[in-house]
Amino acid sequence: MAENRPSRSTTIPGFRARLAAAISKPLSKPIARAGGLSSLAAVAILAAAPLFPAGPVLRAETTADLESKAVVAWGQIAAVLEHPRCLNCHQATVPLQGDSRRVHVPLVVRGPDNHGVGAMRCGNCHNAMSNNETSGTPGAGHAGLWQLAPISMLWQGLSSRELCEMLKDKTRNGNRDGAALIEHMEHEPLVQWGWHPGGTRQPVPMAHDDFVAAMKIWVQGGMACPKQGDIPG
Ligand code: HEC
Ligand code: HEC
Repeated sequence: MAENRPSRSTTIPGFRARLAAAISKPLSKPIARAGGLSSLAAVAILAAAPLFPAGPVLRAETTADLESKAVVAWGQIAAVLEHPRCLNCHQATVPLQGDSRRVHVPLVVRGPDNHGVGAMRCGNCHNAMSNNETSGTPGAGHAGLWQLAPISMLWQGLSSRELCEMLKDKTRNGNRDGAALIEHMEHEPLVQWGWHPGGTRQPVPMAHDDFVAAMKIWVQGGMACPKQGDIPG
């Protein structure tokens, strides 16, 4: 794979720096929460009313404004998707473990239904009794929920742009539109697990509320993707 990506070493620092910059400036919650048409309407009303003649010039956001905000929000979303808590399951053949993303021990494989094979079915270990201090085994949701992400939802090795294009592609993302993607990020137990991973595992560093807010901004801005094909680590 590395030989197909000659620019890898030169693109990572730029990408990392931009992600770091995006993360160090967390979304302003009030603005994000007020998102949607209501905030547009509010801006339009403020712009029309001569209440603050000497104040800053306010104007309704254009499609281009919303799109560029969406691309910034995407940088924050991508940083979450590329976190080991998510990426370890969105893999081709075997799940990975831990922050160092080592191959799963004991070795387990995808199997025909994404749940492993034989005695090594995911749910045998990752079940309702998991995710406690003594078992050291993560788990989430109802029995049988824990499984490898389907082949069409592989994120492993994708650039930020490729990941963005994948996520909004209904032929690959489980036929989800923007609203369904937001819903998944907000309520899916396997996603929520990333913020409560049990044991000594690190949770996803961005607050879950901010992540959902970033998803809403991305969807509102037409799920715009970055132009450049940055390569994530
Ligand atoms: C235990 C394995 C596992 C973990 C951990 C996991 N996922 Fe998934 N993910 C899945 C499976 C299985 C599906 C398919 C489920 C479906 O389509 O309903 C999926 C589907 C998705 C989808 C649907 C669209 C797509 O294109 O992939 C999104 C979005 C998603 N996961 C986000 C996340 C995020 C964000 C995290 C980390 C916070 C995460 N997942 C962690 C297994 C996992
Ligand atoms: C024999 C028991 C067992 C089976 C079967 C099993 N796992 Fe695991 N799994 C574990 C244990 C234990 C850990 C925790 C290891 C650690 O963190 O050191 C783990 C960790 C993981 C993690 C790492 C989470 C993280 O981010 O650190 C993922 C992902 C995972 N398993 C997915 C799967 C999938 C998918 C299957 C089925 C294909 C599966 N496991 C089958 C025992 C099992």
